[in-house]
Amino acid sequence: MGGKVQSIITGGAGFIGSHLTDRLLYNLDFDKIYLIDNLIRTDNLRNINHLLKNDRVEFIESDISKFDFSKFVDRDITHLFHLAAPRINRCAKYNREGHESIANGGFNVVNYCINNRVKLFFSSTASVYQKPKIFPIKEDMACYPHTIYGSGKLYTENLIKSYDNMYGLDYTINRFFSVYGVRMDNSGAYTEVIFNWLKSIKDGNKELTVFGNPDEKVLDLVYVEDVVEAILSTTFNSNKEVFNVSTETGTTLRELIECISKVTGVDIEIDMVADSRTDIEKKRVGDTTKLRSLGWRPEIDLEEGITRTWKWV
Ligand SMILES: NC(=O)c1ccc[n+]([C@@H]2O[C@H](COP(=O)([O-])OP(=O)(O)OC[C@H]3O[C@@H](n4cnc5c(N)ncnc54)[C@H](O)[C@@H]3O)[C@@H](O)[C@H]2O)c1
Repeated sequence: MGGKVQSIITGGAGFIGSHLTDRLLYNLDFDKIYLIDNLIRTDNLRNINHLLKNDRVEFIESDISKFDFSKFVDRDITHLFHLAAPRINRCAKYNREGHESIANGGFNVVNYCINNRVKLFFSSTASVYQKPKIFPIKEDMACYPHTIYGSGKLYTENLIKSYDNMYGLDYTINRFFSVYGVRMDNSGAYTEVIFNWLKSIKDGNKELTVFGNPDEKVLDLVYVEDVVEAILSTTFNSNKEVFNVSTETGTTLRELIECISKVTGVDIEIDMVADSRTDIEKKRVGDTTKLRSLGWRPEIDLEEGITRTWKWV
């Protein structure tokens, strides 16, 4: 990047936010990066300890729904990457917190970007679609979220578009599918099974518990570094657009376990437990025609991604 470029990353101490900071700092030469995070997920700075030694990074521990952006009014902020959000399961458990973080946090961020002519990147989710009937899922399909988390994300998407309509706002929205990799979360019940299974194997276990039929449940798994490339590619090469970020490949839980078995060298037994959940269902993959038109391709295949994650766990 040429010239003076500064950015704010909300949720900067998180999984994707910390990788994004690495890229902005070391490859794109941003002058200053402000990370805002209330540490609700990580409860410590382990993802960004290596970044805090750099005087171009400033960490601010704060809740985005209450954050006072006046601190930034005289700074040369060019981009705000809005990644702060509680996990889907936490939103289900603490409804009000989930609503305030996502909806009020989104409102706060959008107002700052409008008033200061800052380009906004927003991390949305495939959960806005929930029960699509046609696959792969395209961005212009109707959205019917059925979680607080998905509803909050869709609300923020709509808020961004409404503000753009009223006042003009430069923005990019990405809907991530299942992101995994080094520094991933372990507290949820979706992609987090990767961390939990690898950890269990590292602890000497050979039997992995699978809820439901492992041939029926499918994840569209995308490695975190490919996601960061999608964020950068869409933020810098598009405007006022929504993009799916996925690999267009459905991996069944059985295929995932086979890959884990190959990478770890452990002969894994599957303990299948009945499950009524249908949200990780067959063929739930995203169409990435729009993202690929910008030249983006997923570079890290499942085996490589699992290998990197296995070394880190
Ligand atoms: N990881 C995935 O598979 C996935 C899929 C779809 C969408 N997303 C979205 O991408 C973004 C980043 O996800 P991630 O995987 O890095 O999650 P993460 O939990 O690792 O990071 C999110 C960060 O936001 C912080 N946070 C939560 N509420 C906050 C608040 N009110 N104020 C300030 N900080 C707050 C958390 O402490 C955490 O560090 C999130 O918005 C998430 O909804 C992630």
